[in-house]
Amino acid sequence: MKITVVGAGAVGASCAEYIAIKNFASEVVLVDIKEGFAEGKAMDLMQTASLNGFDTRIVGSTSDYSKTANSDICVITSGIPRKPGMTREELIGINAGIVKDVSASLVKHSPNTILIVVSNPMDTMTYLAHKTTGLPKNRIIGMGGALDSARFKYRLAEALEAPISDVDGMVIGGHSDKGMVPLTRLATRNSVPVTEFISQDRLDEVREATKVGGATLTGLLGTSAWYAPGAAVSGLVQAIACDQKKIFPCSVLLEGEYGLNDLCIGVPVVLGKNGIEKIVDIKLTEAERTHLKESAEGVSATNGLLEL
Ligand code: 2OP
Repeated sequence: MKITVVGAGAVGASCAEYIAIKNFASEVVLVDIKEGFAEGKAMDLMQTASLNGFDTRIVGSTSDYSKTANSDICVITSGIPRKPGMTREELIGINAGIVKDVSASLVKHSPNTILIVVSNPMDTMTYLAHKTTGLPKNRIIGMGGALDSARFKYRLAEALEAPISDVDGMVIGGHSDKGMVPLTRLATRNSVPVTEFISQDRLDEVREATKVGGATLTGLLGTSAWYAPGAAVSGLVQAIACDQKKIFPCSVLLEGEYGLNDLCIGVPVVLGKNGIEKIVDIKLTEAERTHLKESAEGVSATNGLLEL
C-alpha cells in the first residue's frame, strides 16, 4: 500500500508518522515545495523506525511528483494554516491555487488514487478537488468531521469525568467554527445517552467548545493544530487501506443526500477499499436538519468564491 502525503509541515508530517507507526503501509511519500524539507522530515522519521517498530518506508520529495506515481491514497495537507483570529474560510485565496495544482499533479501520476483533502477551507477545497480532477465521488474525501468528532469526544469525556474510551459522539456539517453540527442527541457514554449524566446546559457548553476547538488551539499555539488533525486523517487512510468498513463523518459530494446538492460537507460514510463505500443517511431531527442546511448554505457561499 503506497500512500502520498503532500505538505511536510506539522499536519502532513504528523500524518506520515502516525501512518508509519500503524505499520499497514509499505511506503509513504512525503512531498513539499520547500527544497530538502520533505527529504529531511522523511529521514528523521525513518530514524524512528527501529525505535517505534515500523517497517514502512518513508521517502521525501521536493515537488517531484514522479515519486508519488501509483499511490493508492493521496493526502493533501499543503497550503497555509490559519493564524489566531482568522477563520478557515479566509485561507481560500492562497490555498485554492495550491490545492488545484497539487490535486492535478497527484492524479496525473496516480489516476486510480483516492484523494483525502485536509487543506482549509476543507469542504470547499474538497469541492475544488472534484472540479479539478473529475474523479468519481467515492474517491474524493474531505477530512474534518473525524477531527471535530475527536474534539467532541474530548470535551464530552471532560464533562462526564469519564475515560475517552467510554465516550462516543459524531460531528457532521461543515468544518467551520459556525457550521459544525455536533450530534449531542446521539452522544453516549458506553451506549448510555450522555443526558443521563450531564445537564443540557453542560451539553450545550460541550457543543460550543467543540465548534471552536480548532480556533481555541490556534489561539494557544499561534498556528493551526497538527497532532489531532494528523491522527484523524491517518485513521481515514487506515480504514481505506485495510478495508475496515468503518463509519466516519467525512466531507463528500452530495447529490441529493440529506436534501443537499452540489457541495461537499460532512456526513456519515462507510470507508473501505473503494474509499466512500456508502453515504449513511441517518435520521435527523428537524432541528438537526435545519442546522445542517444552514451549514451547507455557509459552505456553498464559500464555494462561490472559487474561480472555477
Ligand atoms: C483544525 O481544525 C486545521 O482545520 C484544522 O485544527
